[in-house]
Order: sequence, then C-alpha cells, then structure tokens
Amino acid sequence: MTTSTTRPVPKTTLRRLAPVGFKAHPARGRFNSTFFWGMGGYINWHMHKSKAKVYADLPSSVVELGSGVGANLRYLPAGARLTAIEPNPYMHARLRRAARRRRVDLEIRSVVGERIDLPDASAEAVISSLVLCTVTDPAAVLAEIRRILRPGGRFSFAEHVVAKPRTPTRWSQRILRRPWAWVFEGCSCERDLTSLVRSAGFTSVDVYPYRIHSPFVPFNTHIAGTAIA
Ligand SMILES: C[S@@+](CC[C@H](N)C(=O)[O-])C[C@H]1O[C@@H](n2cnc3c(N)ncnc32)[C@H](O)[C@@H]1O
Repeated sequence: MTTSTTRPVPKTTLRRLAPVGFKAHPARGRFNSTFFWGMGGYINWHMHKSKAKVYADLPSSVVELGSGVGANLRYLPAGARLTAIEPNPYMHARLRRAARRRRVDLEIRSVVGERIDLPDASAEAVISSLVLCTVTDPAAVLAEIRRILRPGGRFSFAEHVVAKPRTPTRWSQRILRRPWAWVFEGCSCERDLTSLVRSAGFTSVDVYPYRIHSPFVPFNTHIAGTAIA
C-alpha cells in the first residue's frame, strides 16, 4: 500500500492502514510519533556527528527505512526525492509536514522493511537510523535492502546496538528489555547489528562503534557505517 504526500488520512482509519506484518497500536503509535517529534532534536544532537559522516553526499533519490517523523530529512540534498518505507500510519502526518517544510519530494510506502515493494536493483542509496533495532526480522530487512540496491549502491546506517558483556550498560539493557520493547513498539537494545550487517552479503562494509551519553542508558551504545551492495 502506498500513500502519497497530498492526501492526509482521516485519523479514524489510521489503525486499519497498517500493512500486513505490522501491528499499529493507537496509543503507543501516537506516543512514539509524539516522542520522536519532541525528542528528535535531542537524539540527533547525540547522533549528528556520525550521521553527517555516513549520510554525506547522498544522491538526489534516496530510500529510507522507518523514516518516523523525518529525523533524517536534513541530510538529504536540496530538492531530493525520498521514498519512505514507513509502516506505522501514526508517523505519516508529521513526516509529510516535515518533508513539506524541508522541500523534500516524499513518497510514503506503507509496507514493512521485510517486504519492500520496490523492484530489484532500483535504488542508488538506502538509509536508516534507529530502525534495525525495531523491525521484526533484521536479517530479512538487510536482504531486502541488498535486493533493491543497484550493484555498487550504498546502505548508510546509524543504529543502536547491544553493549559489551558484563558492563553496566549491558545489564541495564537486559533488565529493561521488556518495558523498553513495550513502550518503543518492539525496539530491542540487545541486537548485535554489526555482525548482522557484516554477514548480510554486502560487497564491503565499513562500520564503527561509538557511545553517546544520554539518560536513556540502554540506548547509549551505537554503530554507524556504510555497506556497499
Ligand atoms: C525508533 S523509530 C526511528 C525513526 C527514525 N528513523 C528516527 O531516527 O527518528 C523506528 C521506526 O521504524 C519503523 N518500523 C518499525 N517496524 C518496521 C518495519 N518492519 N519495517 C520498516 N520500518 C519499521 C517505525 O514505525 C518507526 O518509525
């Protein structure tokens, strides 16, 4: 299912608009949309240096997984076209408004990253931030990213990951995993995404770890990088 930028959807039908494979929750969906809209600046303040590095020189047409309310629009070149793979209908209105403000030509495809409705080898660049932690099957999503990228195309990502064993951050990730996943609609702080990206069959992978210092302790261990199809 694809929704365009020009036709806002009546609020009452939002839940029914979620694609197969994604459960839209009215309360948590709205909470997460508001949370990432309100906290986006703060989160980006922590992640900006890495994002600026891995999203540098993006082409004028980009596919983004889980665009949320538009945290990464600022990294797109002027006049860019963004295809947003965003299954959560509660994100769409804010994402559309943000795209209009940034003059980005937006197309929302309301499908899950595990089943992207784009042809093989059709994308020059795919980006994501804070999404591989939340998707149901990150290996399937990475396979889809590889499928839609043209040979030589790039996947640039900034994600949060599992901490090193026997560290306070790792303990907090373990202890808080259930309430965290409940509040943030399936988000796991326990994924080793470095290994997953490295084993996803890309031609080359350049990834580095870094740490942020936020009060959301389970969220503080990050990676950023680029994988070439
Ligand atoms: C933590 S938010 C991050 C949003 C945005 N990328 C950012 O950095 O602020 C996770 C996003 O992934 C989306 N998402 C969840 N499951 C997904 C899936 N299976 N495929 C694609 N996107 C998904 C959610 O709807 C949400 O917008």
